[in-house]
Amino acid sequence: MTDSMHFYEPRHGHGLTHDPFNAIVGPRPIGWISSRSATGVLNLAPYSFFNAFNYTPPIIGFASIGCKDTLQNIEATGEFVWNLVTRPLAQVMNQTSANAPPEVSEFELAGLTPVASRLIAVPRVAQSPVSFECRRTQIVQLQTQSGDQVQTWLVLGEVVAVHIDRQLIKDGVYDTAHADHLLRGGGPADYFTLGPEQLFKMARPG
Ligand SMILES: Cc1cc2nc3c(=O)[nH]c(=O)nc-3n(C[C@H](O)[C@H](O)[C@H](O)COP(=O)(O)O)c2cc1C
Repeated sequence: MTDSMHFYEPRHGHGLTHDPFNAIVGPRPIGWISSRSATGVLNLAPYSFFNAFNYTPPIIGFASIGCKDTLQNIEATGEFVWNLVTRPLAQVMNQTSANAPPEVSEFELAGLTPVASRLIAVPRVAQSPVSFECRRTQIVQLQTQSGDQVQTWLVLGEVVAVHIDRQLIKDGVYDTAHADHLLRGGGPADYFTLGPEQLFKMARPG
């Protein structure tokens, strides 16, 4: 009799064609992070190990798997911008994930326009309808259960300023269903969008 549940311990491998982990924890919002190096080179890269962690003050975070340019820039300057990726921006977002050398700006590579932020020195992406200006709060190196260091860093930042395209605000409410967010699925190439068809409402128990 075959067991109906596929079981594995990650340290011994998943036994499948592709690691299911990020397909299960998904689809995920994408942190499209702009940053600036200590010498002033602009950087832009997508991070889907990304989420929000606090409401007041708003704190967001993403994981740099390996010591990447974005992490080094935020360590050096303490600032970054999160930009929303929408469906029309999918291709250019993907271009900014190219492994460009630190002296090359992904803004230029992908033909995107940097616009000056209001409170920090890192620009936001003009083509993105929502951006958060952030100041780094913590950079936490991850550890295994036995305390060994992992070459992954969780970068956390407080959102100090927010830009929202007014067209996405309906009667004072941000309209997620019509903002055309792009979400990362799993596998080598899966993405999702969401729209009004996926929306349902459920109030919290009183
Ligand atoms: C949709 C998407 C999501 C990604 N998510 C992550 C992530 O969560 N963590 C990570 O380290 N790399 C992630 N990557 C890969 C980085 O974007 C890539 O390594 C990039 O070159 C890093 O740029 P940087 O060195 O300029 O920071 C992702 C790539 C794509 C296309």
